[in-house]
Amino acid sequence: MPIFTWNDSYSVSVVAMDNQHKKIFDLINQLHNAMSTGKGKEIIGSVLEEMLSYTKTHFTAEEKVLERYNYPELAEQKQQHAIYIKKVTEMQEKARSGNLTLSLEASQFLKDWLLNHILVIDKKYAEFLNTKGEK
Ligand SMILES: [Fe+2]
Repeated sequence: MPIFTWNDSYSVSVVAMDNQHKKIFDLINQLHNAMSTGKGKEIIGSVLEEMLSYTKTHFTAEEKVLERYNYPELAEQKQQHAIYIKKVTEMQEKARSGNLTLSLEASQFLKDWLLNHILVIDKKYAEFLNTKGEK
């Protein structure tokens, strides 16, 4: 399975946010690597747990900086974050019950989610924050 690589086109032009996004790429790649050697099922539970805890930290940081500048689309951003947390929590429950196809479903979902999160949702705030001098 190909490695999912961060590049400049994913930048939201705020260093702290880019670094957090890179960490999320790493976690998804860990899952990909494990799956390509048949170990997806073994690590899916711990990857999901780490994804959930790390993305919660990331979302809090994002929401805090957006709140500070009264970002007009903050409510939508928060709603997207909540939908993601719900979905990953559901997948964690499936992992606990030993669902066999979960690692494929999870890796697909996480990759699609990350691309949408960064390229659509976060790119919207990128320009806004840059105009406020946040880099
Ligand atoms: Fe983000």
